[in-house]
Amino acid sequence: MSPELLYLLRRRIRAAGPIRFDEFMELVLYSDPHGYYRNNVPGGDSDYQTSPTLSPWFGLLVTQEIQAVWEGLGSPAEFTVVEVGGGNADLAAAVVDAAEGEFGNALKWVYVEPLDSVAAMQRARFGSSEKFSWIGDLDELAPVTGVILANEVLDNFPFRIFEVAKDGVVEIRVGFTRHNLHEVRFPVGPEIAEQLAPALEHLDPGDRLEVRSGIKEWMAKAARGLAEGRLIIVDYGDLEPETWTRHPSGSMVTYRQGELGKDPFEEVGGSDITAHVNFSAVARAATDAGLELLALQTQKGWLESLGLKELVADFRRREAEAQAGGQHPEYLRIMAQRSKIELLAARGGLGDYLVFGAKK
Ligand SMILES: C[S@@+](CC[C@H](N)C(=O)[O-])C[C@H]1O[C@@H](n2cnc3c(N)ncnc32)[C@H](O)[C@@H]1O
Repeated sequence: MSPELLYLLRRRIRAAGPIRFDEFMELVLYSDPHGYYRNNVPGGDSDYQTSPTLSPWFGLLVTQEIQAVWEGLGSPAEFTVVEVGGGNADLAAAVVDAAEGEFGNALKWVYVEPLDSVAAMQRARFGSSEKFSWIGDLDELAPVTGVILANEVLDNFPFRIFEVAKDGVVEIRVGFTRHNLHEVRFPVGPEIAEQLAPALEHLDPGDRLEVRSGIKEWMAKAARGLAEGRLIIVDYGDLEPETWTRHPSGSMVTYRQGELGKDPFEEVGGSDITAHVNFSAVARAATDAGLELLALQTQKGWLESLGLKELVADFRRREAEAQAGGQHPEYLRIMAQRSKIELLAARGGLGDYLVFGAKK
């Protein structure tokens, strides 16, 4: 729990009344120096893993997709991957390692990283390479030919929370009494009620839903930043109406040291706050921004289309050879790598993530 964040929250709430949940998230996840993401990215010694931090083979498979986009655009001499929220930089490490020949020479990498501490971590790995550069916001991107990529980033975009009431909808805001943060139900205007009407048809009194406030604006920036190429978003989420019906109490959860929780006020600044991505809203924002939608697929289907099954078969063959040759440590090493590759496509886990693609 960060006392500094609590102090800031109390001051803000005292001055302006209960704040929206997206404002609360902005502060507790992203404020410098006390926000959760200032000190926590996946991978390494951290308590949570994402696909690129779990196995370098994620990046090696994704390289094939990036290279195919490059080839589809006529193999331009300069081709840029713009990675939004790149965390500990494992994805770039794998892709740059796998990118060879003309494609490797053409490849540039731009990190979009709002937090200086995280950018510093990325710079420590790649700062001396002229392939890499950094910006703090997609707005600053001079339009590129290439791929804009965001893995497990949109789920962390701040969201508002609404609850169905007997006679309409209320917004869940964040109040402060004595030493405690707590929920405050707040009336909403007709504009919001109208916006939420499609969801309300599927929900009952007491049910909740999250709405990400910044998606439209972010997508417009992404579309502007792409002269030509592909937008790829990978995350957990659903389409409408399942996005509401699968999680009638809302999908917001917290993670603290790998442990799942439900109370965002318990460890302010010390836990991640996330919710499933509504990919229908993402698709609408992309269309509005002038992008052309590609088929939505699962991570399992996507990685298999990039050769995951063949890769696993190859690892199994090498495993069997090592076992037959009595090379026990080698056998264990190959098996451990193969298990991680399989986890990338596991049902009920990373394999169920959705891969959203759009092009310009
Ligand atoms: C769960 S981590 C994923 C990191 C990395 N992509 C990976 O897969 O390991 C989410 C990251 O997204 C970053 N993030 C959230 N909103 C962002 C935004 N609008 N622009 C850039 N990064 C953002 C957070 O700071 C955090 O580092």
